[in-house]
Amino acid sequence: MYILGIETSCDDTAAAVIKAEGGLKRPHFSVLSNVSYSQVAIHKKFGGIVPNLASRAHLEKIAPTVKAALLMSDINSDDIDLIAVTRGPGLLPSLLVGVNFARALAYKWQKPIIGINHIEGHIYSNWLKESRSSFQSGLRARSGHGVPRSGTSEGESLSATRWGAREKRERMSKILFPALILIISGGHTELILMKDYGKYKIIGETLDDAAGECFDKTARILGLGFPGGPAIAVEAAEFKIKNLKFKISLPRPMINSEDYNFSFSGLKTAVLYLHNDLTAQNLSREVMRPAIAAEVQQAIIDVLISKTLKVVKNYNPKSVMIAGGVSANKKLREEMSKKIAPYKISFFAPELSYTTDNASMIAAAGYFSAIGGSASGGNYSAKKPKPDSWKKMEANANLKL
Ligand code: KG4
Ligand code: ZN
Repeated sequence: MYILGIETSCDDTAAAVIKAEGGLKRPHFSVLSNVSYSQVAIHKKFGGIVPNLASRAHLEKIAPTVKAALLMSDINSDDIDLIAVTRGPGLLPSLLVGVNFARALAYKWQKPIIGINHIEGHIYSNWLKESRSSFQSGLRARSGHGVPRSGTSEGESLSATRWGAREKRERMSKILFPALILIISGGHTELILMKDYGKYKIIGETLDDAAGECFDKTARILGLGFPGGPAIAVEAAEFKIKNLKFKISLPRPMINSEDYNFSFSGLKTAVLYLHNDLTAQNLSREVMRPAIAAEVQQAIIDVLISKTLKVVKNYNPKSVMIAGGVSANKKLREEMSKKIAPYKISFFAPELSYTTDNASMIAAAGYFSAIGGSASGGNYSAKKPKPDSWKKMEANANLKL
């Protein structure tokens, strides 16, 4: 089955074509193209995403982005079996662009369309794995079609990836259920128990800011730019504990609470006070910035790992996965992997190019939805969606998993 994925829930205009096969027993994905237009340059000066500017940029870029994804996949629109589009949650002005473009395509092509929950898309980014052969051949082909690149993680810049017929990246899953998923993005921090395809139970979430939001807001306080996560990680890597002549200690909010919830807004405020304090002591930015960045990154990591392990102990999942933009964080990946190892369960983190928002994960979720393994599309995810399914497709900014 060839699936066109479209994602515009936030500040990335993304489209991808994947080949999906194997059913629920042996799901297998080949990403034929994965194109993304990042709006970071537009929102950077505001230190966060401006919804109306995001919507305008999506309008401008959606057609060339989808066109590029089709061209790069070498798949003709006639061969597309399904269109999968993010219908929520997210910024409504952004969602509407992708949803309406996808609906128009579905109408024009007379193809079925499925609305995908963005969070479910992030979950399925873990099913998009590199095969050994493609990994060895070092495939990182850049776009040759004039599609701008975006920053995805620490030191990594990749947005348009092309895999030709000989160069398909093959991905497969060995993920066992029940699985525990830690969603960590700019808008969400959730611990989700996944009993089977399409069966999710949220057992913990943030009471205020998301983990990615905390990275972004503290980066802003430190003057490190947007998006904050990769900037904090790079700055933290500069930190040398040896020459530190001042004390740095930030709280680990709710680390000892009985539940599985999170709270990050207090941490952001603590960073603000600490920054002001150290500035008043006439410490130079160059000295204090790496130290604060390292400590805030560690505080976020400590809380995320501690809560995840608490669920592991109490629920005994067979696999643990992380997903969402913050899952690109190298230190988190390393530490989480080490801490989970003694429990003898598998730990999965998405390929770096699928951690931040992308359309391949939406297409993968579309596959599970189409074959009856997803709850995310609500009424529209019934098996074998019909060509006139575009009529019922709606964006929903507050869509629940
Ligand atoms: O999943 P995503 O692309 O968008 C949402 O659905 O929100 O996540 C974006 C978030 C941003 O807050 C960004 O700062 C964070 O992911 N992020 C990181 C890293 N790369 C991106 N946070 C920590 N370390 C990173 N390397
Ligand atoms: Zn996301």
